[in-house]
Amino acid sequence: MILETERLILSPATQADAPLIHPILADPEVMAHMDGAAMDDPDLVDAFVGGRVAEMANGEALYWSVRHNASGAYLGSVDLSDIDRRHHRAELGFVLGRDAWGHGYGHEAVHAVLSHAATQGFKRVWARTQVGDNPSERLLLKLGFEDEGYLRGHTDRDGERRDFRLWGLLL
Ligand SMILES: CC(C)(COP(=O)(O)OP(=O)(O)OC[C@H]1O[C@@H](n2cnc3c(N)ncnc32)[C@H](O)[C@@H]1OP(=O)(O)O)[C@@H](O)C(=O)NCCC(=O)NCCS
Repeated sequence: MILETERLILSPATQADAPLIHPILADPEVMAHMDGAAMDDPDLVDAFVGGRVAEMANGEALYWSVRHNASGAYLGSVDLSDIDRRHHRAELGFVLGRDAWGHGYGHEAVHAVLSHAATQGFKRVWARTQVGDNPSERLLLKLGFEDEGYLRGHTDRDGERRDFRLWGLLL
């Protein structure tokens, strides 16, 4: 479903987004706190987006492409993944290109996705942030998420284990 806000339009992700999200996924600064390292290879990005499209087709996740409504510029992606229909919950994810940071777009886009989630019967949305990822923590706190714990050695990034924080919001 397409979601519209004051400045943004969020539309379901498609394979055609691969070249648009590529520069974002290839930027090491954007990817510093993500589960996987920066992705430069267009084939990898294609496969990554293809995986997302397949998850959507299976009803496992919802990925939105975030665009600026006036210019149509592609800004990034917000998603609900690991959808559990039995327990009405999903994990929230978000990534914007560096040029889009600091304008409140992250807040505006995620707020729209959370409002949509509430109308779809979701009761809990959770998120993880890598320890040290202050912009994401600030964003989640502003949206009402609560710190639910510390996940030691939660991911493997190039052989290095990284700690995360767990966040939750009851809708
Ligand atoms: C996390 C991320 C999406 C935040 O994006 P963002 O758009 O910069 O975030 P916000 O919407 O909170 O805006 C950031 C700042 O812009 C400011 N801002 C500027 N104009 C604004 C406006 N019109 N409305 C609201 N806020 C505005 C806010 O005050 C905010 O500052 P604060 O956090 O000090 O209060 C972005 O940093 C990102 O993509 N990071 C890399 C990917 C990543 O790590 N993802 C998380 C994986 S869990």
